[in-house]
Amino acid sequence: MSETKKKGYLTNKEIRAIAKANAKQIKKLEAYKNRKAEESEFLTEMKDDGNILEIDGLHTYFFTEQGVVKAVNGVSYDVPKNKVVGVVGESGCGKSVTSMSVMRLIQGPSGQIVEGSIRFKAYDYKRDEKGNPIPKGEGKYEMEEKIYDIAKMPINEIHRIRGKQVAMIFQEPMTSLNPVFTIGEQLDEVTFLHVPGATKEMAKAKSEEMLRLVGIIPENVYPRFPHELSGGMRQRVMIAMALAAEPRLIIADEPTTALDVTIQAQILDLLQDIKKKIDGSILLITHDLGVIAEMADYVVVMYAGKVIEKGTVFEIFQDPKHPYTIGLQKSKPTMTLDDSTELYNIPGNVPNPVNMPQHCYFKERCAKCTAKCSGEYPGMVQISPTHFVACHLYDGEDKNG
Ligand SMILES: Nc1ncnc2c1ncn2[C@@H]1O[C@H](COP(=O)(O)OP(=O)(O)OP(=O)(O)O)[C@@H](O)[C@H]1O
Ligand code: SF4
Ligand SMILES: [Mg+2]
Repeated sequence: MSETKKKGYLTNKEIRAIAKANAKQIKKLEAYKNRKAEESEFLTEMKDDGNILEIDGLHTYFFTEQGVVKAVNGVSYDVPKNKVVGVVGESGCGKSVTSMSVMRLIQGPSGQIVEGSIRFKAYDYKRDEKGNPIPKGEGKYEMEEKIYDIAKMPINEIHRIRGKQVAMIFQEPMTSLNPVFTIGEQLDEVTFLHVPGATKEMAKAKSEEMLRLVGIIPENVYPRFPHELSGGMRQRVMIAMALAAEPRLIIADEPTTALDVTIQAQILDLLQDIKKKIDGSILLITHDLGVIAEMADYVVVMYAGKVIEKGTVFEIFQDPKHPYTIGLQKSKPTMTLDDSTELYNIPGNVPNPVNMPQHCYFKERCAKCTAKCSGEYPGMVQISPTHFVACHLYDGEDKNG
């Protein structure tokens, strides 16, 4: 019997075909994720020794009943050592899915890293042939620098970096803190987890040191439960917790969005301060261009699962190239706007994530679109040693050779 097809709806036959194709892909990717592997299989080299993180051609998909959502569709950007990289872009463009891929927190089986590399310069235990850390006395272990490809790590090896070398600060601290344990117990746990042989005294001393670092008097907060603290205080605790493992990279995903404006400013000051004190880098994800301008050294602009422009904070704010980046800046409120000036709103919507077009994803919303824009998706054009843009308007300006 023939199935009637309504526009925008899938037929049963199509639904069955999608489910079958999804199951095949998921089976293969889950087996890869859960495989046993020698360390040599996920060791690699950095492209540039000055970077702590290099995301290269990352594809992270969600295999849904409607089809494959290419949430992260070929994303590449670097985080240099001791720098802050800000990632901006409108809701749903793949900022969080990229950072969750770095932490390998993508929820399977439907969510999967499908392709690409996530190179991370770790400082980890030197291991013997059996894979065990090598002690060097007094509870200490031999350490060495190692470059891991996080995307190729079996999931049971991810403890080597997650929470320890790479820590994450989320938007809503209450969801990351356990309501039944005191702040002190939760902070101490970080040391127990990451320092083999740590004693209760060592863990408490470390927890108190971290609380002081985030501007908290330890005695006031160490014995308290999360619900006894304000939102700003909880976010400080989350930052203390992220710092306790002395990570090389902190990922802060909308760290101030859930807080009111004055507390936001305090948390940003704190992050600035910490940036100077720690020997690490920060990947800062936010909707707020003001926060990026204040905090970041480099900016990555994402649109519909792709990076469409990246450069230094100066390049992106003073000389934005992509029509979307220019639109984003026009839609940002400023002190000079009077009541009669309406904020610019980029017209139109992001295309359906299941059926992305072959051409530039911004085409339907772009006022500068030319005939070329109906052709292939634009490649990355290098404008300066640090400034890149994916837009046909700059095709002749490539400084890359
Ligand atoms: N579990 C899931 N199943 C299907 N699609 C998902 C899932 N999680 C995320 N997505 C899709 O992935 C895309 C990217 O989501 P992501 O959370 O990375 O956006 P974002 O840029 O962080 O947005 P926001 O600014 O709102 O936090 C979205 O289109 C979203 O619909
Ligand atoms: S490639 Fe064309 S459609 Fe896309 S942003 Fe550039 S000018 Fe606009
Ligand atoms: Mg997000």
